[in-house]
Amino acid sequence: MNRQKIVVLGTGGTIAGEANADDAEGYTAAVQGVQILLLSVPGLAQLPCELLAEQVAQIDSKDMDTEIWQRLILRCTHWLAQPDVQGLVITHGTDTLEETAYLLHAVLSPSKPIVLTCAMRPATAADADGPQNLKDALTVAAHSGARGVVVVCAGNIHGAKAVQKVHPTRLNAFSSGDEPLVGRVQDGQVFLEGNWPVAQFKWEQKAIENIASLRQWPRVEIVMSHAATQGATVDALVAADVAQRFDAPAVQGLVVAATGNGTLHYALEVALRRAQAAGVRVVIASRCLLASAGAKSGAVFQDSQGLTPVKARVALMLALI
Ligand code: SIN
Repeated sequence: MNRQKIVVLGTGGTIAGEANADDAEGYTAAVQGVQILLLSVPGLAQLPCELLAEQVAQIDSKDMDTEIWQRLILRCTHWLAQPDVQGLVITHGTDTLEETAYLLHAVLSPSKPIVLTCAMRPATAADADGPQNLKDALTVAAHSGARGVVVVCAGNIHGAKAVQKVHPTRLNAFSSGDEPLVGRVQDGQVFLEGNWPVAQFKWEQKAIENIASLRQWPRVEIVMSHAATQGATVDALVAADVAQRFDAPAVQGLVVAATGNGTLHYALEVALRRAQAAGVRVVIASRCLLASAGAKSGAVFQDSQGLTPVKARVALMLALI
């Protein structure tokens, strides 16, 4: 089989950002098109693959929404099905990158690589990190045997399930916590340290098409357990008349960023039991940064199986579809 093409899908982010003319410190994310980004990648000609580029979205990833996720799922599905496509690279903002990576991992569990990459400095910065990250991502996508959804940033290859943005400004802003890295990429070479990610569950093509065409995804909100938590927050979230007043869909699921190993403020627990009795799915995650072993939730609530609150939210939305 001839698998010589890599498709680069652009979605915006700081990697596509440009400095603001009137503000030395500031920049605007998601300005440059993905074709332009490729022009600044060093040594592109040495890659053993032909590149195709497609702009799927052009946003600051803080504004990511399900409509763009659906488009991305469809474009990934389309390109992955082409026999001559070796893999995909997605340029993405850092802020919600881990959510998109986890979604693609959970829904597509691809046998070819989908490599998300990003930057912490805009494309116009003298010391922009985007071109090297993009080159590293292309190197990983071209690597023989690469598969699954990974994130490449600052020379590290993270699995989609473990990766998390842990710093707001550092070039190496991502961590896999206690989980091993998939590997590292340096000087155009991949050094494996762990396994390529494989999702637990394989969705049928029909189910993927259903996700990609849903008009409205199940509404799942995140609440946090903290000192002096008010149970009223949960009551307000699940109250049908409140949702109606804001013309919002009813809440079907709640993910809790619980303390420590899945413990809850007593007032929150009472309100969550009420919500669950009323039919709302409740999932307990930990608000601790290194919680991949999973927070215990006792017999009453389901636990997030080690997913962070934002990824547990994606998983719960998918489970409720
Ligand atoms: C974004 O997430 O789109 C902006 C921030 C970044 O890419 O670092």
